[in-house]
Amino acid sequence: MLIARTLADLRASVSSLRASHGSLALVPTMGALHDGHRALVRAAGASGAAVVTSIFVNPLQFGASDDLARYPRDEAKDLAILEASGCALVWMPEAATMYPPDGATTISVNGPAENWEGAMRPGHFRGVATVCAKLFGQVRPDRAYFGEKDWQQLQVVRRMVDDLQLPLSIVAVETVREPNGLAMSSRNRFLTEGERVRAPLLHTVMTETARTLADGRDADAPLETARRKLNGAGLAVDYLALVNGVTLVEVPKTAAGTRLIAAVRLGSIRLIDNIAA
Ligand code: PAJ
Repeated sequence: MLIARTLADLRASVSSLRASHGSLALVPTMGALHDGHRALVRAAGASGAAVVTSIFVNPLQFGASDDLARYPRDEAKDLAILEASGCALVWMPEAATMYPPDGATTISVNGPAENWEGAMRPGHFRGVATVCAKLFGQVRPDRAYFGEKDWQQLQVVRRMVDDLQLPLSIVAVETVREPNGLAMSSRNRFLTEGERVRAPLLHTVMTETARTLADGRDADAPLETARRKLNGAGLAVDYLALVNGVTLVEVPKTAAGTRLIAAVRLGSIRLIDNIAA
């Protein structure tokens, strides 16, 4: 497995992989890898492309009150996981490579980026869109793989790629969960033992709610019941909403492509999740 830390190294490695494999698949990550990331790398490799995984804790997508400093970093373990998952090249740029001091361009997506995480974390999706655009330009992959776990992020990246007419396709990979239903996340390691017991309730309540909504009834009352249940169990609801899965606009009842999305605060972290509904 190749490792590149400078743009010059990256360019050389990308050229040689393109020559040997024909196509390239990119998996953007912030490291602290788990089975969710592994699933992306495997899906990318299954397409026959050479897999390039980026590890970069992107300062631009963290707000002032966010957890940039304490974001988990474990380079040795990440590299071992990537090697075992069939990754061909790891791109680990410095912050100064991604954001040179004279840089003056960022990418703002409206539409699907405006609500929910976009409203809770101002500037977050500008950071995500900007870093993804840079990664796409640096690696020039044929495909890039994103997890459904971050449903809104996936729609924001798709919108950007469409709007900027970038020459790659975005592939979505299903959310990988613990056996108890909790969606895997790098931040789950910050849950205390007590919080770990309560965290799976988010997925349980969302699954129940999706089932209740399946008959096409008005979503208001079932959503309010679900919010009360979560808040009552100490999972403080930031939002729980039924939305159009592409535009992220709230909808009154389920239809083709609608999605139930949620974010709750539990102890020191936020859990975000979504399912088809
Ligand atoms: P990160 O949180 O490291 O996630 C990297 C990719 O893994 C994202 O596409 C995310 O949706 C996916 N992922 C995380 N947990 C998953 C799970 N349980 N199942 C399936 N996929 C999962 O998302 C980011 O980093 C950043 O915002 C990034 C896109 C790298 C831009 O900085």
